[in-house]
Order: sequence, then structure tokens, then C-alpha cells
Amino acid sequence: MLFDLRPKTSREDLFNRDQELQSLLQAIELKEPLIIVYGLRRVGKSSLVKVALNMVKRPSLMIDVKGILYEYGNVSKNTLMREIARAFTESLPLLEKAGFKIREALQRVKGLRIKDLEVTLEPTRKPSFTELLQALNSWCERQGTHFILALDEAQYLRATGGIRYDGLIAWSIDNLPHLVFIVTGSQVGVLRDFLRLEDPKAPLFGRFHRDIFLDRFDEKTSIEYLTQGFSEAGVSIPRDEVLDAVAKLDGVVGCLTYYGYYRAYMKQTHKRSLSQVFKELAALEAEELERLIAPSRKRYLAILKAVASGLHRWSEIKGYIVATAGGIEDSRFSKLLENLVKYGYLRKANAEYQITDPITLHLVRSHSL
Ligand SMILES: Nc1ncnc2c1ncn2[C@@H]1O[C@H](COP(=O)(O)OP(=O)(O)OP(=O)(O)O)[C@@H](O)[C@H]1O
Ligand SMILES: [Mg+2]
Repeated sequence: MLFDLRPKTSREDLFNRDQELQSLLQAIELKEPLIIVYGLRRVGKSSLVKVALNMVKRPSLMIDVKGILYEYGNVSKNTLMREIARAFTESLPLLEKAGFKIREALQRVKGLRIKDLEVTLEPTRKPSFTELLQALNSWCERQGTHFILALDEAQYLRATGGIRYDGLIAWSIDNLPHLVFIVTGSQVGVLRDFLRLEDPKAPLFGRFHRDIFLDRFDEKTSIEYLTQGFSEAGVSIPRDEVLDAVAKLDGVVGCLTYYGYYRAYMKQTHKRSLSQVFKELAALEAEELERLIAPSRKRYLAILKAVASGLHRWSEIKGYIVATAGGIEDSRFSKLLENLVKYGYLRKANAEYQITDPITLHLVRSHSL
């Protein structure tokens, strides 16, 4: 179902991503060690990876790194391993059904306990992530396959107590040839900062990697998506409403999907469906945005308000900040702007700053922050 609100898992439900899917499947089959899926919030990164992992005949695991941070407040060695154990518990039945006796690998990792189909951590001994990777690699070598580890929203691995995950991935690329890493990130700039592929002093510098960028849908594709979704749901929606939704939701497939779900399946009016999209998605986004802006809330908010109200140039925005939030040094102001770009709330083109997505724009304009 196209308007299913969860990330897509099957090929038929993944609209208009043939090229990106092809690229991802090819990279996996070629056993490329590092694959990076970039794209803004709600553009379909998790869906693309899930669909690909379901299509390849390889064992795999997808870890929701953002989920770890939100659940435990940090991404430590321990919370990561707990999440890995949980994810294995969830996927063991499917893996075993597909003929992958992955428990053979897990049993070799000290500190992991496997009982029936449940993987847990031993209370007294903490398993090591490196040891797990080694065990998976050796198992793959014996089985003649390779294992795909997808780290969804990998930029949150930066929030760790002391462990350098970029170093660990680099070490794995060099030493464990049967593992493939897929990392995704919605905060594109932060993911880049985390991976530091262009920094000669960083562990991943110069490593081969495949980049897959997910862009928002263009207008025509957005119209086709809604039209096809409505037709699948067996409802007929006036053209002017479809066009209005497309204009307001700006090609972000996650927003279009929400709208379609409310309109087609919850039988809401056009207006109400749109307001539901903004209300629900904005509530989710507010939480994330608040975390970023907390250290300098008044100024960050002033920047976002300035841009939302039509000021796009550095000097215009700075003028607004000074007038509403007080004086600020140029370098400090630039840093705040840069952070908003890095985290994907603003984009910069031709020396002008714009708010990237309709939900952020709504949040700022409706004074919900
Ligand atoms: N190509 C697609 N075709 C149909 N629906 C899609 C597609 N891509 C994403 N969706 C839908 O859009 C919503 C967001 O998708 P998904 O969670 O995969 O995006 P994301 O980029 O991982 O988002 P987030 O930033 O929240 O992690 C989901 O409801 C999903 O079902
Ligand atoms: Mg996602």
C-alpha cells in the first residue's frame, strides 16, 4: 500500500526510486564496504534500505541509531549492543527461514546469550561490538556470503562516550572483507562531519564509498504518486486538491504519504488532512529541532523566523537577529547559520538561505516552537 505510514519494505510499494534502488542493490552485490544513503528528513531513506535488504539474498541487520539515542539518551557501547541484540531477536526467525544460521556466529560472541530465538546480553559480561563484527565476518567466510549492517541515522553515533565509530568502520573495512556497511543520514552535514571522508587525518579518509542521494520528488512525480495512491485506495479526489497538496508539501514523500493516508483511508477533508500532516509531523520535528537549538534558543529561533519571513541573505538575517535578539559577533552568527544548514533545517544556494522543508516552515510560522 503506497500510503502506508511505516517505512516501506517491499518493492511494489516503493514509488519512483528505481535508479537509487538499482544503485544500492548493485553496491551490495559488489560487496562494496561502505554505502552512504543521504537525504533530508522523510525523503524515504529507511524505506529504500529496507526494500533493498529484503530483495537481496544476503543476511542483514538494520539498526535504528536515532532510536537508541531517544530511548536511552545516549549511544554507548552498551546501548548499541542492546539494540543489536533486540534487532537480532526480531530478525532471527526470518534469517533462519532464509537458511542463514546466524546464531552460529552469535554464539561465538562472549556476552551474548541466545535462547530459542531470543538474543539478549549477559548481565555480567558485556559483549564487544568488534568481536561481533569479527564473528559475523568469519561466519560469512565459511558460508560464502556477506553480511550487511545498516546503521540508520548513523550521524547519531557521534553521540558516544569515547568510542570512535568512524575508526571502527575503517578498521572493519580493512580487516573484515565480508561485511558491508550501509549508513544513512538525514542531517547530511552532520553525517559528513561524522564520517570525515575528506579529512586526511580521519580514519575513513580516502576510503572508497558509494553515495546514494535521495532527492525530494519533483512536482510531476508528486502528482503521480498521490494519483496512484488514491487510485489504489479506490477513491477519487478532485484535481485541484491534489495540486494544492503537492504545492504545500513540496515533494517530501513522507508528507505526501501522510496526506494521502488521511485523505483516502481516514476519509478526512482536504483541509483537515493537510492540517493533520502539519500537526503530527511538526510535533515529531519540534522535539528534534529543540535539541539542536537549546544552547542558543533565542538566536536560532530568530534566524529561522527571519528566513521564514522572507529574509534570505546573510546580512538581512543578521540585521533581524540584532534587532530582535540583541548584538552578536559575525563569527558566532555564521556558526549558528552553518549549524542549521548542517542539520538540514536550512539550505544555502546562491548566497541565499531557505528553509528546506514544509514542516519546519510550518513550525516556525505557527509559533509552535
Ligand atoms: N519511495 C517511496 N514510495 C512510497 N512511500 C514512501 C517512499 N519513500 C518513503 N515513503 C513513505 O514516506 C514516509 C517516510 O519514509 P521513510 O521513513 O523511509 O523516510 P526517511 O527518510 O527514513 O525518514 P526519517 O527522516 O523520518 O527517518 C513513510 O511513510 C514511507 O512509507
Ligand atoms: Mg528513516
